[in-house]
Amino acid sequence: MKKKNHVLVTGGAGYIGAHTVVELLNAGYEVTVIDSLERSELRIVEGIKSITGKEFSFHKIDCLDASAMKSLFEANQFDSVIHFAAYKSVNESVEKPLMYYQNNVGSLMTLLEAMKQYRVRDLIFSSSCTVYGQPDYIPVDESAPFKKAESPYGASKQLCEHILEDMATVGIRVASLRYFNPIGAHPSGLIGELPIGVPNNLVPYVTQTAAGVRAQLTVFGNDYDTPDGSCVRDFIHVCDVASAHVNAIQYLEDLKAGKVFEAFNLGTGKGVSVLELVQKFIEATGVNLNYKIGPRRPGDVEKVYANPEKIVKSLGWNPQYDLGQSLKHAWQWEKKIHGLS
Ligand code: NAD
Ligand code: WQD
Repeated sequence: MKKKNHVLVTGGAGYIGAHTVVELLNAGYEVTVIDSLERSELRIVEGIKSITGKEFSFHKIDCLDASAMKSLFEANQFDSVIHFAAYKSVNESVEKPLMYYQNNVGSLMTLLEAMKQYRVRDLIFSSSCTVYGQPDYIPVDESAPFKKAESPYGASKQLCEHILEDMATVGIRVASLRYFNPIGAHPSGLIGELPIGVPNNLVPYVTQTAAGVRAQLTVFGNDYDTPDGSCVRDFIHVCDVASAHVNAIQYLEDLKAGKVFEAFNLGTGKGVSVLELVQKFIEATGVNLNYKIGPRRPGDVEKVYANPEKIVKSLGWNPQYDLGQSLKHAWQWEKKIHGLS
């Protein structure tokens, strides 16, 4: 049997990275993970090992450290790279724009430098539906133009995609996956998201409220032009996000062309409102949730969900989990963090 390729995963101790490493190991890939651990913890790396029963190399490296990256590439022959390492908070990016451009754009540039020097050509990039802003039509497909970014975070993802398009013309092969709203946790309850401080994102806020860490969830606005007045999003189980990376690696491996930049929406194609999600959480977990309706959150897009046709057709990917399962797994992980049964 042909030996599976060696994949470098940057930010592999983070939320989506860790779930992807599980999928890669289960698919038989050799995996090397690097992470600065600035926004994660070693217990996630241990969780990956417990779930898979497989070994992989882990190095505490900051992607901005060009000399450490060079040594890493010198010591390993990677076949492909999945680049998760970045900061991801919209609010924080508004307060600290330079920090976001430095880390999100800078880490990609350092990585690309090493890839060019050591002739590693396949890259999967973590992009975001935020590149679309409020699209003119939904479900949004990949041909929709980028709108003016709502935040430095969004702008950093747009910039990274522009850089990658240019790099594709000089021989880097890129699949840019535009994630919609990843939620949930591994069904084992051994890995999940570790939000820092007060969560901005809806589902960690929901589970923390249910666990009593927060007193009440505020639903930001019920006067939007949507069926129940709350915003509409495309929530997708993190394991389904993770599995798409394995399809994307395979897709690049099988390509004949030497120069490729392809963007793929990574969403379910189903629009779900914030209030629907709240009701589904109560129904799926049997836990009551204290919530109120509050004012709109500045910068929020009214409704966005994916047209996932391209990723389904080209990569042969299909989501496995529904919203109820995603919320159950998110709740299971939240309880694990607090030692609740
Ligand atoms: P996360 O914060 O859980 O994981 C990111 C990991 O990267 C962390 O473990 C952090 O320590 C590490 N990291 C950050 N900067 C680094 C650097 N310079 N060098 C090495 N390691 C570094 O975030 P996540 O939710 O897993 O997101 C992963 C990627 O997906 C990010 O690029 C993010 O922008 C993108 N994304 C996330 C979402 C989402 O809702 N979670 C949606 C769209 C896109
Ligand atoms: C979802 C909905 C809120 C919290 C962000 C980034 C995007 C991507 C995913 C990285 C919105 C509402 C939230 C709360 C609420 N990340 N909400 N009460 O805004 O769709 O996208 O995360 O790339 O770039 O912008 O996700 O989870 O913050 O919000 O009512 O306490 O939940 O108003 O309508 P969003 P979110």
